[in-house]
Amino acid sequence: MKTCKLYNGVEIPEIGFGTFRLRGEEGYRVFREAIELGYRHFDTAESYDTEGYLGKAVKDSGVPREEFFITSKLPGEFKAYEITKASLQQSLDRLGMDYMDLYLIHAPWPWEEQDSPDWTDGNLAAWKAMSEAYQEGKVRAIGVSNFSYMDLDRFYDRCEIKPMVNQVQLHICHVVASTVKWCKDHNIVVEAWSPLGGAPMSGKDPLPEWVTVRSFAEKYHVTPQQLCLRFAMQYGDVVISKASSERHMLDNLGIQNFEITDEDMLAMAQIDPYWQGGEKSLFL
Ligand SMILES: NC(=O)c1ccc[n+]([C@@H]2O[C@H](COP(=O)([O-])OP(=O)(O)OC[C@H]3O[C@@H](n4cnc5c(N)ncnc54)[C@H](OP(=O)(O)O)[C@@H]3O)[C@@H](O)[C@H]2O)c1
Repeated sequence: MKTCKLYNGVEIPEIGFGTFRLRGEEGYRVFREAIELGYRHFDTAESYDTEGYLGKAVKDSGVPREEFFITSKLPGEFKAYEITKASLQQSLDRLGMDYMDLYLIHAPWPWEEQDSPDWTDGNLAAWKAMSEAYQEGKVRAIGVSNFSYMDLDRFYDRCEIKPMVNQVQLHICHVVASTVKWCKDHNIVVEAWSPLGGAPMSGKDPLPEWVTVRSFAEKYHVTPQQLCLRFAMQYGDVVISKASSERHMLDNLGIQNFEITDEDMLAMAQIDPYWQGGEKSLFL
């Protein structure tokens, strides 16, 4: 699988496997199947309650640990130094691993307080503990998630070690152009979460935009979902998709076999009503 390089030289496989809602024995079965089909990059978080079974699936697979790329996340509520240190260690213990490949601040705000404006001081306290873990080799890379360009603006200049990744909600109807541009300008790799928008784009509850998506998919001889995943990967850098059926897992790996032209990327980005035309430089 192709990889994308962080500014510190660490390489991330471009397709990651999401573990949200894949708990318990069922999750274990799905992770083992995904590993057998070739997935090596897995995305978990303390709050998903999937670290334990993911770690077990990795271990039982017999594939060497260093072939995997494992991400976990600090809960959005934890905005202090000591609790970050403890939480990171607990994630490692649940995974049964002595290092993680990437550790992210899950959100700039505690989930229940998204309307409160500025958690920069708390994020910096957490970042200090994450930076120490990075220097000690407990994590190979550190980053953030759900940070808008405004959150990043407040945070970036005040960190000694700069964030390497921002994992954001990014799909064909939600292109967050200003944040993606900010990240690209600052050498931060963008990971797209919910690249199918969860259920709406999995085809269960089609959106009005689906007609346009389908016509592009026909042009590239792929399914609309493969088109959406490829779009999210090309628009950002890395795509994190979740699938529980073998068919979907294989289809999602198939997005490595085609490429969307810059002109079509630009046309598709405009499906999002909040697209800002000024961000054309992302493609052209
Ligand atoms: N950082 C954050 O705050 C954050 C937030 C949310 C998610 N995430 C991460 O991003 C990952 C992915 O997001 P997500 O789980 O919300 O949703 P998603 O990947 O956008 O969509 C998953 C849904 O799409 C279906 N699907 C997958 N591949 C398909 C295909 N080729 N054709 C048709 N349907 C397909 C799945 O069905 P089946 O399961 O039936 O195969 C499932 O119902 C999460 O698992 C998590 O790791 C991060």
